[in-house]
Amino acid sequence: MTVEPGGPLTVLGIETSCDETAAAVVRRLPSGAPEILAEALLSQIDDHRPYQGVVPEIAARAHLDALDRLIGRAMASADLRYGDLDGVAATAGPGLIGGVMVGATMGKAIAAAAGKPFVAVNHLEGHALSARLTGSVDFPFLLLLVSGGHCQLLLVRGVGRYLRLGTTIDDAVGEAFDKVARLLGLGYPGGPAVEAAAARAKNPNRFALPRPMRGRPGCDFSFSGLKTAVLNRLRALEAQPAPDDAANMAAAFQEAVADVLTERTGNGLCMAREREPGLRRLVVAGGVAANRRLRRALEELCAKEGLSLSVPPQRYCTDNAAMIAWAGAERLALGLSSPLDFAPRPRWPLDALDGAPEGAQGAAEG
Ligand code: KG4
Ligand code: ZN
Repeated sequence: MTVEPGGPLTVLGIETSCDETAAAVVRRLPSGAPEILAEALLSQIDDHRPYQGVVPEIAARAHLDALDRLIGRAMASADLRYGDLDGVAATAGPGLIGGVMVGATMGKAIAAAAGKPFVAVNHLEGHALSARLTGSVDFPFLLLLVSGGHCQLLLVRGVGRYLRLGTTIDDAVGEAFDKVARLLGLGYPGGPAVEAAAARAKNPNRFALPRPMRGRPGCDFSFSGLKTAVLNRLRALEAQPAPDDAANMAAAFQEAVADVLTERTGNGLCMAREREPGLRRLVVAGGVAANRRLRRALEELCAKEGLSLSVPPQRYCTDNAAMIAWAGAERLALGLSSPLDFAPRPRWPLDALDGAPEGAQGAAEG
């Protein structure tokens, strides 16, 4: 089941690793240009809201319930049958394993029934390549991946060629936004609520919060101390809480996060440039990339460092199936696919991926 080299590649993508059930059909033209043919997505936010976080068991059942309908909808809106596809790509990790198994098993079944190659996509690779789905982005680039499950800096040199430069040693940054929102009584999901509250702050300098890891060598992150600092400041306040303390605290937290993310990204850039001196681009992906304060701080860094900044549109920053289909297409274009006994995995570091052969990168650039 190999793919004809040089032709267009039409790929069904499936994403079920967290709380979005999604299917999409994407085409990679021979020039390397992408075309999104159809998308169907169902967010489970309302199912998880009562628990103020994603409940793995509820997520897996909801994926199972909705996935075949969403795939049917995406295929119908692309006006395609399975036999018209060149491959089926599904997230096979990392993520909540119940959901990952639902999506990967469905992808394998469709691939096997239609006699098409299956591509087990690393969810992080989906985020890493999403900027090439939505814009003209060549390798190499520095990727800041900031989501509810991840906070990493990666040097992206090509399809399957990733070097993790730094990661969080405790919470993911989106998780920190969600936890702080809960402490402040701002609702779920926390990131947009914290950003909205911060915009209402009358005195954003009222609280001074720490900057974990700032000034340390390397580009790892830490957010749990910041969350604890918020908790301790709130406890200390309880005697005399001012009415707009939540907004002021949200602003202080957001400022601290933007500050450390930008400083760490600056360090990551130095590390990346040691390996790729010509590096000229920063890509930001993941749900937290929506944060306008963070974007402003990163724009300043990029202006100072002579980098262009690429942030995919919000719907492609958060979890979606088009980025999974696209990662599948980029792999198929290099002759990479996966066996049907590929085991879904809850953990799967991106730099443990099998990469493209050296010299194949020209074919991956579009
Ligand atoms: O990428 P994503 O949709 O899902 C994961 O793979 O985790 O990211 C969701 C995360 C949540 O933690 C949410 O609170 C955060 O992204 N988020 C934001 C904003 N919008 C979403 N964080 C800060 N500011 C925002 N505007
Ligand atoms: Zn994600």
